[in-house]
Amino acid sequence: MNNLKSFVLLVLFGLIVVPVYAQPRISIFFDHVAEIARQEKISIHDAARQVKALGVDGIDVRVTMNEPQLKMLDSLGFQHASAIADINFVRGEQPEATRQALDFMRRHDYSRLLVIPGLLPENASAELMEDVCKRLDAFVEEAAKEGIDVMVEDYDNPHSPCYNTQTLDRLFAASPKLNHVFDTGNYLFCGEDVMVALQHFRSRIHHVHLKDRKAMKDRASLPIGAGIVPLKALVNELLESGYDGWFCIEHFGAPSMLEYTKQSVANIKATWKPSFDEVLRTRRSIRSYDASKKITETEVRELMKAVQEAPSWANQQPTRYYVAISPEKLAAVQDMVGANKERIANAPVLIVSTFERGKSGFFRGQQTNEVGDGWGAHDNGLSVAYLVLKARAMGFDTLIMGMRDADKLRELFAIPESETIMAVIALGYRAAEPRQPMHKDLDEMVEFF
Ligand SMILES: Cc1cc2nc3c(=O)[nH]c(=O)nc-3n(C[C@H](O)[C@H](O)[C@H](O)COP(=O)(O)O)c2cc1C
Repeated sequence: MNNLKSFVLLVLFGLIVVPVYAQPRISIFFDHVAEIARQEKISIHDAARQVKALGVDGIDVRVTMNEPQLKMLDSLGFQHASAIADINFVRGEQPEATRQALDFMRRHDYSRLLVIPGLLPENASAELMEDVCKRLDAFVEEAAKEGIDVMVEDYDNPHSPCYNTQTLDRLFAASPKLNHVFDTGNYLFCGEDVMVALQHFRSRIHHVHLKDRKAMKDRASLPIGAGIVPLKALVNELLESGYDGWFCIEHFGAPSMLEYTKQSVANIKATWKPSFDEVLRTRRSIRSYDASKKITETEVRELMKAVQEAPSWANQQPTRYYVAISPEKLAAVQDMVGANKERIANAPVLIVSTFERGKSGFFRGQQTNEVGDGWGAHDNGLSVAYLVLKARAMGFDTLIMGMRDADKLRELFAIPESETIMAVIALGYRAAEPRQPMHKDLDEMVEFF
């Protein structure tokens, strides 16, 4: 079977996972996690768990990191964003350091490696820079054979062989497979325009360090989004151009690493303002939720403002919602959704929707046409549509469930008999990318006359 035929068949049977995710994926240096543990006087495990719960999914580690800590990060579900190795190619070939780095990448299944190549001496000769380029390129080629992507960042030291656009251009010219960790704060440090640098290096950018600065040459740490780096423009420019790599939070030296991390995550998340079409495209029924990510009551209240905007028959607004957010109520509702139980096991919020009968479709207590309380169900569906779309716009995911035990739900929430119980809606964060469902042809759904 030729490739095209097998591709078409896979799509037809829904076996291809088409990525519909467009939010920034956030990672953090393990060093920051360790610093949180030190400052907060908690274990590294607890610090890592707290960071994960904020919505940080990836981790950036040094290739010298120890096995038990790597395992602990894996057990918490951190994805391998990048590994970092100091390999001093200025001093000469580095067989020991390169072997150690490649061993680490293989053993621990990391694919992106940031190399810090050392510092050049004062008035370094052109020959020395030439040698650094050659040594680095030989390593890049060796790593590429094993599928390892070697990268250099713009480094905030004028003696670095990768200090600014000019020196990076030189390295990239000598090494076609070398890629770039785009550090947003360091372009400011070398006095360059970060947006111009982004355009210039876009095709080589495989990883991003999000760092902010108070002023061009200022080294002080700031939460991302609190300084002069144009965070929103950068993130959106990268995402719109198809960047699907990581955004690594960087604020070494933060006086409160946990507070800085919270603010940075919130600011990065807030950069994602999907278009209406993107909301429609990326809203899918999600049947596996990320247990480490929570949703607060404040967020649910914000979400629920959307349902106030939904249209309804003569503005009757017949829909009611019962929100399970406490562990006890969540556990109870999980047992009332039949075979859906597994699918929504880790959703942090479950919402029951109902509608009051005798409202939509009725005038002075009289049914106005043959649809009767069908209009209540209609308006309930509209309201739920507003809910699930707004949820997606806020970066959440949902599953509407018609499979549920109405009697038990009525008892659990003391829902009046005058209300008809409709769906249970799971609300949370996706743990895996969904499959694209088949959609009917437009002509099967729409007729023009
Ligand atoms: C009223 C209603 C009830 C549904 N009930 C369930 C359900 O009990 N379990 C489930 O896994 N999916 C349920 N779904 C999700 C549908 O299967 C899903 O919307 C459909 O396959 C289209 O996929 P999409 O939502 O990803 O676009 C329900 C959807 C609606 C609108």
